[in-house]
Amino acid sequence: MATTGYLKDHPMDKILVIGAAGQLGSELTRALADQFGGDQVIATDLRAAASVQFPYCRFEVLDVMDKDALGALVKKERVTQIYHLAAVLSATGEKNPQFAWQLNMDSLLYVLELAKECGLDKIYWPSSIAVFGPSTPKTHTPQFCEKDPNTVYGISKLAGEGWCNYYFEKYGVDVRSLRYPGLIGYKSLPGGGTTDYAVDIYHKAIANKPFTCFLSEDTYLPMMYMPDAIKATLDLMNAPKEAVKIRSSYNLAGMSFSPKEIFASIKKEVPNFEINYQGDFRQAIADSWPDSIDDSRAQADWGWKPSYDLDSMSKDILKHLPAFFPPQS
Ligand code: SER
Repeated sequence: MATTGYLKDHPMDKILVIGAAGQLGSELTRALADQFGGDQVIATDLRAAASVQFPYCRFEVLDVMDKDALGALVKKERVTQIYHLAAVLSATGEKNPQFAWQLNMDSLLYVLELAKECGLDKIYWPSSIAVFGPSTPKTHTPQFCEKDPNTVYGISKLAGEGWCNYYFEKYGVDVRSLRYPGLIGYKSLPGGGTTDYAVDIYHKAIANKPFTCFLSEDTYLPMMYMPDAIKATLDLMNAPKEAVKIRSSYNLAGMSFSPKEIFASIKKEVPNFEINYQGDFRQAIADSWPDSIDDSRAQADWGWKPSYDLDSMSKDILKHLPAFFPPQS
């Protein structure tokens, strides 16, 4: 229940999801509808066609860059929580850095300002392992350490973390955030990220096609299966306010593997599967990111613990993927 601002004593939580049709949104929105009820959740996306993905909750078309439309929707619907998931990811961002900065930054500031103005209950905003850079310790990367991101995506996420902390410290906005590793799910297609090779590879495996990997076989990256990411997000958002001690963004770990290892894991289920390697500009992005993450603060502050490892994830994805995306021949 909302306790502050214009929503004081508002009896019901009302959740707005921005970028609901993306990789994370398409699964998190469902989980939020399960928790709060479909009538209390408004999924939004730029494209009207995305509405078909949300038969279980409400849907509105929203361009997050339209500050006035965003404000009007929040006020009209008496929204109490915003999950702001819209972003341009690492690889896509490098193709149009100005646009990526504008979208990632301006939209976050609109949301934080609205939260302050309207006294919203809680805000969720994802950060990423992309905040780290070449000077960051590579393995078991600590929560607090050197950060020199070299993608516009990473720069925008690091700046965004600073803004979240600022709005919490200065204005008491209850904004919470996780530094997601590469997220791997079977309910949506790859979304323009460097870690997305680990989504694409399963599509090739079920189609009995060889996979051409744009990273070298020994490139380790921190990764997480989507059900763990959803659980982490809900755990963080449902934690008592006092338990959330980090207001920039929490390190979060699931697993860590290389292309060679995910290939071997899939091959256990699809014995004829083949891989070849053809590096491109995304190799340099991956090389600047950690191999593995230390998430002891998330464990200590709100009890985080992942459930999936590489083989249990592979089995689950290969079982469910064909029903979601029938193999292309
Ligand atoms: N999955 C993201 C990317 O590769 C990292 O947060 O851009």
